Amino acid sequence: MDKRIVISRKLPETIISPYVNTYMITMWPDEDKVMERSSLLKDVSKADALLSMLTDKIDKEVIDHAKQLRIIANMAVGYDNIDVDYAREKGIVVTNTPDILTETTADLTFLLVLATARKFVQANRYIIDGQWKNWSPFLWAGTDVHQKTIGIVGMGRIGEAVARRAKGFNMDILYHNRNRKDKAESELGAHYVSFDRLVEKADFVVSMTPLNEHTKDMFNEAVFKKMKKSAIFINTSRGGVVKEKDLYEALQNGEIAGAGLDVFKNEPINEKHPLLQLENVTALPHIGSATMETRTAMAQLSLENIDLVLKGKKPKTPVN
Ligand code: DGY
Repeated sequence: MDKRIVISRKLPETIISPYVNTYMITMWPDEDKVMERSSLLKDVSKADALLSMLTDKIDKEVIDHAKQLRIIANMAVGYDNIDVDYAREKGIVVTNTPDILTETTADLTFLLVLATARKFVQANRYIIDGQWKNWSPFLWAGTDVHQKTIGIVGMGRIGEAVARRAKGFNMDILYHNRNRKDKAESELGAHYVSFDRLVEKADFVVSMTPLNEHTKDMFNEAVFKKMKKSAIFINTSRGGVVKEKDLYEALQNGEIAGAGLDVFKNEPINEKHPLLQLENVTALPHIGSATMETRTAMAQLSLENIDLVLKGKKPKTPVN
């Protein structure tokens, strides 16, 4: 046992146990708290592999502390928390966990579409708070989802999985992406449109795009102004693609009708954040891929990638 794996969050023993006789494993003891920066810097200096979470900022400083690191295995499909270019420069492999979370994240995205449209959370709170005294014709009346137009920004694997769900609801599917998706067009009847046309036409504008220098703040005042007043904005990708102040104003001024958000610029978002004070916002704590099955598979894939690289083999899901 001469190789060391650092895991930045407490993971279940059952997931770690296949590796405990092969590697020295240093695991942050807390499931709920981010590994302290000082511990990360100290531990990474002796690590051959790092299993990181999307909450860990793996920047130049961390990478420079690493003396013998061969792989950073991020337990997420997104890897905007890692300076991938710098890792590449230093010969460190970066891996993510695509595919296995696609359907789970699409389920949650569609849940947000439905929950926001039908005011699910608000209506649930209303009954629990003992406010339901009478049935009335327009009590918590929301808006239909079936036969409406969904606009998917970022037609990757998860975007396509959302489109499949939308097809089941007889929705018109618009999408915008760097490149055309022939299969989504022929099998799902999805229509490729410009970003501007998508935001103008869609009843549900769904952000599925990764965060990078091209997508940062792409949903901003000008874009919200182009949307229908009845439009609902859904984001399950990354908070950084949205100018939250502009989203707040659009929601507050009735420029759009509602938002369903699983991700925020700064996570965890403070409960006093203006967005959370709005009645027309349905918010979740970044749980897109959070099912027992999928999170287990993500942790296992991260460890498999580490094991492969430490044995001198190719990882299953490299990003660089
Ligand atoms: C990811 O894996 O990037 C997701 O955001 C997790 O829910």
